[in-house]
Parts: sequence; structure tokens; C-alpha cells
Amino acid sequence: DHSTTNTLSLRCMLFCLCPGEILVVGSNLPTVAAPGDTVVLPCHLEPTFDVRGLTVEWSKLGLKPDPSDRLSRVEYVHLYRDKTEVPDMKIASYVRRTELFADDMKHGNISLKITNVSEGDAGRYRCFVPKLQSRVKFAIVELVVGESKRFC
Ligand SMILES: *[C@@H]1O[C@H](CO)[C@@H](O)[C@H](O)[C@H]1NC(C)=O
Ligand SMILES: *[C@@H]1O[C@H](CO)[C@@H](O)[C@H](O)[C@H]1NC(C)=O
Repeated sequence: DHSTTNTLSLRCMLFCLCPGEILVVGSNLPTVAAPGDTVVLPCHLEPTFDVRGLTVEWSKLGLKPDPSDRLSRVEYVHLYRDKTEVPDMKIASYVRRTELFADDMKHGNISLKITNVSEGDAGRYRCFVPKLQSRVKFAIVELVVGESKRFC
């Protein structure tokens, strides 16, 4: 009957994968680093997919738009488009510190390398592939920056 069909389609929305659908996968575990470290924030597509032709956006959650920007855009940690990094709208403190792994991108790996981490980098980051034909176009990964990597 009708309500069973609705329940099934709702379950399918939550749990099923459409055939051929590609997901963006981050990590539930935070990436932990000490100031000065180089870190890799993990993010990849599943199943593997050559992502070099698509736009990849890395942003930081909870940032306010730049008040001097009339369009109220939020700046990027790293923006990749047309097979290269686009430096426009990049947060100044990340300039020359971020990099994607060009060779790994052909296998869907969009992990972001950040060099010389500082405490101000701590927070939640979003990797986002806006043009992906999928319901799961982004993932969130957390970066924790402490004085020492060893908690014990
Ligand atoms: C993505 O590439 C980075 C750098 O080569 C590597 O450290 C990481 O393990 C790769 N992730 C996956 C899921 O393959
Ligand atoms: C690393 O960042 C700190 C500020 O967080 C800066 O003082 C230092 O010069 C940077 N080191 C390098 C190698 O860029």
C-alpha cells in the first residue's frame, strides 16, 4: 500500500546507493597535528573516479563572509577548477600552504595537504565537489592542533 511504499522510499533515500552513484568520503576521526606540522586532511570519492575535470572546493566551516566583498562570499581554503588551483577568494593565511595531490586526483583522492599548521587552523573543514552527480557531494573533516601530538 501507499504508506509502505513511502516508508521504503524514505529508507532508500537514507541507506541505499543508487547504481553508479559516487560518494564523497572524509573521516570520522579528527586529524591531529602540532604547530609547524604538515597535515593531510583526508577526503576521497568512492568508487574511485577521475575528479580532475571537476571543481573541488575546500572551505572551513563557521567563517564569516569577507565584509569588504559586496557579494558576501565566503573565502576558500583551497579552490581547484579547470585542472589548477584558483587563488581568487583564498583565505590569506592559507596562501602557499595548501596543495592537492595531482596524481592521486585521477583516482578520486582529493585530500588536502596543509603545511606549517598553526593553532588558528584548527576547526572543521569541508571538501565539496559541487558538480558531482550524487546526493553526497561533500564531507567534513576535523583538524585538531595541540601543543604536542601525544596526549598520553
Ligand atoms: C590520498 O593521497 C594521500 C597522498 O598521497 C595519501 O596520503 C592518502 O592515503 C590517500 N588517500 C586514499 C584514500 O587513497
Ligand atoms: C610557520 O608559521 C608561523 C606562524 O604560524 C610563521 O611564524 C613561520 O615563519 C612559518 N614557517 C614557515 C617555514 O613558513
